[in-house]
Amino acid sequence: TRIVLVGPPGAGKGTQATRLAGKLSVPHISTGDLFRANISRQTALGKRAKVFMDAGHLVPDELTIEMAKDRMRQPDAENGFLLDGFPRNVWQAEALDELLKTEASKLDAVLDLEIPEGELIKRIAGRRICRSRSAHVFHVSYSPPRKRGVCDLCGDQLYQRDDDSEETVRKRLEVYCTQTEPIIDYYKTQGLAVTISSLGSVDEVTRRALEALKRED
Ligand code: AP5
Ligand code: ZN
Repeated sequence: TRIVLVGPPGAGKGTQATRLAGKLSVPHISTGDLFRANISRQTALGKRAKVFMDAGHLVPDELTIEMAKDRMRQPDAENGFLLDGFPRNVWQAEALDELLKTEASKLDAVLDLEIPEGELIKRIAGRRICRSRSAHVFHVSYSPPRKRGVCDLCGDQLYQRDDDSEETVRKRLEVYCTQTEPIIDYYKTQGLAVTISSLGSVDEVTRRALEALKRED
């Protein structure tokens, strides 16, 4: 199973990807999480990426595409993956097509999560994530941790992302509309894109997603 998740910041891609990856037995590959892991390890890549991320811009393709390809070539991704946050523009979508072509594989579906702007602002404002590599996601009111500021799953400290300030979120949203949304049409012409609403409880959205993916078979 090879699936791409698309949607604006705060739509719930990470939240749904974790659950869907478990159900579909494929790794969850998030380029945002990979960049954040590089930032916390203070690698050269992390230092370069941070400048763009903090401004709400896309990290340049020459850094992003190689990192994503490396991850997709890991043994655990041999039989599939769930991509979250990649591809994010038409050039990345073309690079992914090329990689898949050399491996004689193809995408099964592109799941597009739709959400009104007011709701995504609320979701991002209350988001807290943990410092572990898995970057478990919580929300101060929608899915609060049992103990304030501490991850239920690994006991690590929760924090608010540097790029989750309202100003940066506005920029990320603008970047999404101009650079990322066009890939939905790109995938529509290939008959791969399916749009679902991301409103409702996390469970409801997961159910909707599984239903939509079944229909794509
Ligand atoms: P990235 O980390 O990918 O961020 P994003 O796309 O902006 O998406 P988010 O992580 O903000 O939201 P999400 O949709 O995953 O929502 P979540 O599940 O957390 O990218 C960050 C940056 O990295 C980019 O700006 C860019 O600079 C760089 N980057 C990454 N990939 C790149 C690429 N390919 N090319 C270039 N640059 C790249 O949910 C949000 C909140 O809502 C959480 O608190 C959650 O608990 C809550 N929530 C979720 N679902 C529900 C629900 N159903 N009901 C109530 N609350 C909910
Ligand atoms: Zn955790």
